[in-house]
Formats: sequence, structure tokens, C-alpha cells
Amino acid sequence: MNILITGGAGFIGSHVVRRFVKKYKEYNIYNLDLLTYAGNLENLKDIENEENYSFIKGDINDENFINALFFKYKFDCVIHLAAESHVDRSIIDPLAFVKTNVFGTINLLNAFKKHNQNKGQNRRFYHISTDEVYGTLGQTGLFTESTAYSPNSPYSASKASSDHFVRAYGETYGIPYVISNCSNNYGPNQFPEKLIPLFINNIINNKPLPVYGDGNYTRDWLYVIDHALAIDLIFHKGENHETYNIGGFNEWKNIDLVKLLCAQMDDKLEREPGTSEKLITFVKDRPGHDLRYAIDASKINKSLDWKPSVTFEQGLSKTIDWYLSNKLWLEGVTSGAYKNYYLKQYS
Ligand code: NAD
Ligand code: DAU
Repeated sequence: MNILITGGAGFIGSHVVRRFVKKYKEYNIYNLDLLTYAGNLENLKDIENEENYSFIKGDINDENFINALFFKYKFDCVIHLAAESHVDRSIIDPLAFVKTNVFGTINLLNAFKKHNQNKGQNRRFYHISTDEVYGTLGQTGLFTESTAYSPNSPYSASKASSDHFVRAYGETYGIPYVISNCSNNYGPNQFPEKLIPLFINNIINNKPLPVYGDGNYTRDWLYVIDHALAIDLIFHKGENHETYNIGGFNEWKNIDLVKLLCAQMDDKLEREPGTSEKLITFVKDRPGHDLRYAIDASKINKSLDWKPSVTFEQGLSKTIDWYLSNKLWLEGVTSGAYKNYYLKQYS
């Protein structure tokens, strides 16, 4: 089976690629990634020479290139993760998100449709999406698979649109698809624009920790390795034309999470307890900031027997250890363009 994984050099994609390459020697895994600021081949150094792995640099927005690629490799299945993924950047430049997340997804769907017409079973377009498509919750309730879409940021609107196109291609052209909507991931290799790695990096460098608004926003955190396991299960055992919510059963208010992170960092860096907390700085809120996300993951839990393997405290500790042992990776991705982004976003 030839499997195309898009966005495999990014945070979640690299964990998915590694899992598939190592576990399924009978599959040929093709990792297509444009290597934007968020993509990094260092994430996959350990598997780059595996026989069943190939990297292809390219843009999902390039229709001719995508068509030629499908013609050449006759992909049986696609696991589509490539996206612009950061909410704050989507507020600065919404169109970049429409291009990659909507047009790019449609390009892939068109190519999949064109080159898979006469194939039988064992083909599937698996679209990786987010819980942000559901908008925001109040203080109570959970997102289920039947919660109405109500996106509030340009990022989540673009992901919602891509979900709708995948579903529409399934209904209109009979493409066998599956979609999963996951909550906030954390873990090794996450680009330090997202809350946890950004704050880890700032604590290491004794820089302020910019908490948006009053910090009373809630997210449901999942360790990235557990997301990769869920993707494996859904890819192999999920039902066609279904969606699956994936979550951590693990809600944290941002401010509580940041305090836990500070305490773990003080411990690991052998600093006086309370040192890192002093770096917390409340800053201007994110526009359209969703108050609370929380996933009802009972469908995947019951039908595919999936549940997170680590507690948040364990996952966070492993994550910090990874960043502390990979300072060169961190320095590499925070030099150059990152500095400009940081100034624009936080000054
Ligand atoms: P990421 O930003 O770390 O990685 C995205 C990858 O896509 C990068 O390697 C980048 O180079 C690549 N890419 C971007 N534009 C491309 C293009 N035009 N052509 C080819 N490749 C391109 O993102 P992530 O956090 O790993 O998220 C991966 C997917 O999972 C996204 O679709 C995102 O919406 C979804 N998701 C993320 C989370 C999360 O918490 N990070 C949660 C739920 C769902
Ligand atoms: O819910 C899934 C989504 O989680 C994914 O689809 C997105 O790709 C991913 O980026 C993430 O979106 P969030 O906006 O929830 O993640 P982020 O890490 O940017 O922010 C988490 C929370 O922390 C959010 O309430 C905003 C807040 N925050 C974030 C940053 C970067 C701060 O208070 N300060 C910050 O500097």
C-alpha cells in the first residue's frame, strides 16, 4: 500500500510518520511537506533512511504538482495533516490559511478522486482536523461528533471549511473518507509558537510568560503520541464517512497549566520554587478567544478502545525533558524569522 502523509515534517505529522514507518514495514510511506517555518526534517532524522520511507518536498496548493505526484505514485490512501495551524498567525494573515487549509485540501481531494476511480477497497482519505471547528463551550458541556460547527477564528473557519469539503466529496463523488477532530496536542517537536513550548523556551531564557487576558481559558490537552495512536486506530479500524472526536479527558485553565509548568521547570532546572512563576505576565487578550474546549471522546473510546496512555503531569514532564535535551533544535527554530514573528505578536 502506498500511503501519502501530508505535513509529516510538522509536529503531529512527524509522530504519525514515525509510527507508520516503524510499525508497518509493508506500507510505503511518502511524506509530502513544503517545509514552511513549522516543518523540520530534524524531526525525522531517526527514520530518514528507512526503506519504506520517502520524503517529498512540495506544496499542496500546487495543483499540477499534486496531480503529477498522484499519477506517479498511485497513492491508495492519504492521511492529510498539512495545514497552517496557529490561531494567532491566522489573525494576522487569514488568506494564507484559506489557501493551504481549504484550497490545498481541495487539490488533494481532486487528485485522489481522479487517480482512485477504479480502485476497490482499502483506499481512504483521512482528514485530520481540530475541535476548534465547534467554536467555544461555556463553563459546562462537551463537544460531541454531532455538535454544530461554529468556528470563531480564521484558522478554525478554514479547518471547518476543509472538513465540509472532505465530507461533500465523500457524499458527492463517493470518496471513502474519515475525519477526526482532536483537542490541543502537546509533546516533543512542537514549534514554540504554541503555549507549552513557547513558555518552556521563555522559562529557559528567563523571559516573560505572556498569558492572554486573565488566563481563565480552558483547553483539553492530549499528549501527541496518544494522538498518533488514535490516528493509527482510526486509519485502520474507523468507519468510512464517520468522524471521531479525540480528546485528553484533561481540561486545564491556562493559568493553572502555566503554574504547573513553572513548578516542573523550577524542579528540573534546579531553581528556587516560585522562580518561574514570577515570569508570568498578563497581556492583551487574543481577539475572538474561545473560552473553553472539551471533548467527549466516548465514541473512539468505546468503538476503538482508545484512551490516553499518560497523565498530564507525566506527559508534561516528558515534554520538558525533551526540550531540555534538545536545546539545539530549540535554538535552531527560534533564530531568524521566529524573532520577527515574536516581536510582531508580543511587542
Ligand atoms: P504544524 O504547523 O506543526 O505542521 C504543519 C506541517 O504542514 C508543517 O510541516 C508544514 O511545513 C506543512 N505545510 C504547511 N503548509 C503546507 C503546504 N502548503 N504544502 C505542504 N505542506 C505544508 O501543525 P500540527 O500542530 O502538527 O498540526 C497538524 C494537523 O493537525 C493540522 O491539520 C492541524 O489543524 C491539526 N490539529 C492540530 C492540533 C494541535 O494541537 N497542534 C490539534 C488538532 C488538530
Ligand atoms: O484545540 C486544537 C487546537 O489547539 C489546534 O487545532 C491548533 O492547531 C493548535 O494551535 C491549538 O490551538 P490553541 O489556540 O488552543 O493553542 P495555543 O497553544 O495557541 O493556545 C493555547 C491557549 O493558551 C489559548 O487559550 C491561548 C493561550 N495562549 C497562547 C499563547 C501562544 C496564551 O495565553 N499566551 C500565548 O502566548
